[in-house]
Amino acid sequence: MDKFVIEGGHHLEGVLEIGGSKNASLPILMAALLCKSRTVFENVPDLRDTRTLMKILEVLGAQTKFEGHRVTIECADEGPVVAPYELVSTQRASFYALGALLGRRRQARVSLPGGCVIGQRPVDLHLKGFEALGVKIEIDGGYVIADASEARAAHVFLGGAYGSSVGATCNVLMLAATLDGTTDLDNAACEPEVAELCRFLNACGARVEGMGSPHLRVTGVPQLDGVGFTIAPDRIEAATFLVVACLSVGEKLGIRDVRLREHGALLNVLATLGFVPEVTDGILRMRRTGVSSPVECTTLPYPGFPTDVQAQLMVLLTQFPHLSVITEKVYPDRFMHMAELGRLGAAVRKEGPSALVNGGRRLSGAPVMASDLRASAALVMAGLVAEGITTVNRVYHIDRGYEQLDAKLSAVGAVVRRESA
Ligand code: UD1
Repeated sequence: MDKFVIEGGHHLEGVLEIGGSKNASLPILMAALLCKSRTVFENVPDLRDTRTLMKILEVLGAQTKFEGHRVTIECADEGPVVAPYELVSTQRASFYALGALLGRRRQARVSLPGGCVIGQRPVDLHLKGFEALGVKIEIDGGYVIADASEARAAHVFLGGAYGSSVGATCNVLMLAATLDGTTDLDNAACEPEVAELCRFLNACGARVEGMGSPHLRVTGVPQLDGVGFTIAPDRIEAATFLVVACLSVGEKLGIRDVRLREHGALLNVLATLGFVPEVTDGILRMRRTGVSSPVECTTLPYPGFPTDVQAQLMVLLTQFPHLSVITEKVYPDRFMHMAELGRLGAAVRKEGPSALVNGGRRLSGAPVMASDLRASAALVMAGLVAEGITTVNRVYHIDRGYEQLDAKLSAVGAVVRRESA
């Protein structure tokens, strides 16, 4: 198992490049199963998660090719309808097989994904959405057995205890796109990655209106056709790099192709800390205005502050002499990184669903353990500012969602070495 060995305190200078979006790629690659002809994707990030999704597509009978960042997928009408536990349990996004299989083959047998380190992560909203469309669902032996032979367009409300669900919205969309009639999805997730799935479905001939809003209207079409499609830049990698830019002294670090409109909530917090974005020739830099105030931040569904940037923000807050509060409303248990940040000397304390960060103390390097994808990125960032050597163990979490993070950071002057443990 690989680890990162990071020497802190180096000045960062140069331009970071953002790869294709992981969270957009996963539902979109799965949605290629709906297409009668070949689909060619560009800018697909080469990550453990995208590779696992391709394995599932192959198990479902698709022919796939992954060359550089280009992915080709072709899939026949008939084929297997079982997504096995061995694959679904390693990655929740494999559960997108349910919507894609029902959309194409009207039958599916997909393993329930189970929990993960950031919390319980139920799929009740996915199932509720399918049932509202007339899908017959049974749970047996840890599998969802679903029959959409009598499914029809309907009005579907997709809200739950934590608000909207990205996964449930994408899953239900894939079936609705192929059903006769008009389906209205209310309280749909508004994340840009969901809008990207809508953009892909429409490119293939579907008719989805209201992209990016909580009200999606889907007029089903009998057939979707394969197309050429380019995956958008990764919003969370961009946000992670925005925070890295604020951590690095001297305003010399740039980031290419940031879609600023997607980062309103993060930029608002960074403004409280005294940072403003400046874009020159497509390259964004964060300029320090000198005034910083304590932050009160709550994670929420988009356009609220992203839960996937909560851990990275916490690292930034350790660098300011304020008492700041982060409240997690999407995954209330998503604070595994706090104990590890404590090992580096951060004064962080959990109070119910909130974290209190007493910033302004020196961080000093130590061995730490990565627990989940974004928490691991946060630990790497802490290593960049800590004095001495930080070793981040179990970086396979990082490889799930950041393509060559070590190489990208090294290219702008960080000292990050990948070693086999
Ligand atoms: C996606 C992202 C993940 C991000 C999350 C929230 C992918 C591959 N992953 O995950 O990086 O952290 O959105 O922005 O895109 N919920 C239910 N019932 C359900 C489904 C969800 O209660 O049936 C709850 C979840 O437990 C959570 C909240 O709703 O509290 C949001 O989850 P959801 O948007 O579904 O997250 P994912 O799609 O799994």
